[in-house]
Amino acid sequence: MTAIRYPLPASIDPERLPQHIAIIMDGNGRWAKKNKLKIALGHRAGTENLREIIRNCSDIGVKALTLYAFSTENWNRSKTEVDALMQLILDFFHSEIDELDEKGVRILILGDKSGLPEPQRLVLEQAEERTAKNTGLSLNIAVNYGGRAEIVRAAQLLAAQVAAGERTVDSIDEAAIADHLYTKGLPEVDLLIRTSGEMRLSNFLLYQCSYAEFVFPEDLWPDFHVPQLHACIEEFQRRSRRYGGREE
Ligand code: FPP
Repeated sequence: MTAIRYPLPASIDPERLPQHIAIIMDGNGRWAKKNKLKIALGHRAGTENLREIIRNCSDIGVKALTLYAFSTENWNRSKTEVDALMQLILDFFHSEIDELDEKGVRILILGDKSGLPEPQRLVLEQAEERTAKNTGLSLNIAVNYGGRAEIVRAAQLLAAQVAAGERTVDSIDEAAIADHLYTKGLPEVDLLIRTSGEMRLSNFLLYQCSYAEFVFPEDLWPDFHVPQLHACIEEFQRRSRRYGGREE
C-alpha cells in the first residue's frame, strides 16, 4: 500500500470529518492576472492542484467531493476562455481517469451533459460508466450545472410521475426531491468551500447546502493546496452544528 502523501494533522479529528465537501474553485482569473499570464493558464494552474486535493480526499476517507467546474452562466465568457475550459476538462479526464479508477473513485457528473460539445459529453459519460461500480470517494463534477435548473428538473420529473399516475402529490416530500437531484444517494453537503474570499453560492447545490458550513479562504484557487484544505476541515470541526436546534 502506498503511504498517504499528506496524512491528517493531529489537529483534525478523523472521526468527525465532513462526509461531503463541495468546492467553488474561484480565483483562477485573478491568479492569472497577478502572474501576468493568459486566463487559460490560470485555469490550467487550477487543475494542477486539483489532483492533490482529490487524492487527499480519497486518502483521508471523505465520502464525497463535489467540484464546480463549469456553470450554466459560464457560457457567457469569451469563446477563447470557454474553449480553454472545455479543453481542460478533456485533458483532465484523459490524464487522470486511470489513477482515479485504480483508487476506486466513482465519478458522477452533475449538470446537463446534453448541452456540452460531443467530445466532452463522451469523455464524461465514459468516465461515469467506467467508474460506476467503484465504492471509494464519490467525485462529483458539476459541468453545465445550475442549482435552480437542477431543482426545476426534479420538479418536472416528479410532476411527470404524478401525471402518469405513478405517484401521488402527497408522496412528494423532501426525500423525493433529493432523490431527483443529480446528487441522488449522496450525503448532504457538510462543508462548502469557496476560495478567493468571495462569499456567494452562485447557484451551486442550492438544495444540498441547506445545513452546510461555509468556509471562505482568501487563497486564489491555484494557491489552494492540501494544507489549506486541512485548515478548512479544522475550521469545520470548530463550528457547532445545531440544525435549527440548541446546543446540548
Ligand atoms: C472560477 O475562476 C473558476 C472557473 C469558472 C472554472 C474552474 C475550473 C477549473 C479549475 C478547471 C476545470 C475543472 C476540471 C474538473 C477539469 P474565475 O475565472 O471566475 O476567477 P476570477 O474570479 O479570479 O476571474
